[in-house]
Amino acid sequence: MSIRLGDIAPDFEAQTTEGPLRFHEWKGDSWAVLFSHPKDFTPVCTTELGAVARLKPEFERRNTKVIGLSVDPLDAHARWGDDIEHVTGHKPNFPMIADSDRAVSNLYGMIHPNASDTMTVRSVFVVGPDHKVKLSLTYPASTGRNFDELLRVLDSLQLTATYAVATPADWKDGDNVIITAAVSDDAARERFPKGFVAKTPYLRVTPQPNR
Ligand code: BEZ
Repeated sequence: MSIRLGDIAPDFEAQTTEGPLRFHEWKGDSWAVLFSHPKDFTPVCTTELGAVARLKPEFERRNTKVIGLSVDPLDAHARWGDDIEHVTGHKPNFPMIADSDRAVSNLYGMIHPNASDTMTVRSVFVVGPDHKVKLSLTYPASTGRNFDELLRVLDSLQLTATYAVATPADWKDGDNVIITAAVSDDAARERFPKGFVAKTPYLRVTPQPNR
């Protein structure tokens, strides 16, 4: 069965480039991004892994651990690291799961047989401190992901986990946010002292509350 938002992210044991780990224990009460790529020594994946390594400080600033996965063996992950550094200037600085027996790929539905029955697709799972899945994304092998978008999503997920707000289309950290429908106008005046503008009765906008 597919993993849905709000589900507990299934726990697993895996061999990684940073040693064996158990997912929930490794993650602790941090946020985590678990992402798969189709195959080592391939061009799009090389650029993606370099991008994640470059952005590691940004993930850390958001209390978020990052972990990659493919069905390639550990020695391939290790050798490929040199190419990733050569091409992107950034060597992988996060664990990469060697899922040769596809145990984790199958657990998370990362193999889509009508796309490829031998490789994982480009899956992303964002997992909250409570181990619940907050977001999932699936891209095909031919399309590299935008990891800045993942940081933007983390900003939204973390803000909306704390305040009764939602973020509008194309929102980025620092922009105005939307007060959720569950909050009455009277409660909104108390909870959002910077005030709000009601563009319609159901679309009330307020400055980002944690700024
Ligand atoms: C790539 O990363 O470029 C790639 C990987 C698997 C299939 C096709 C492309």
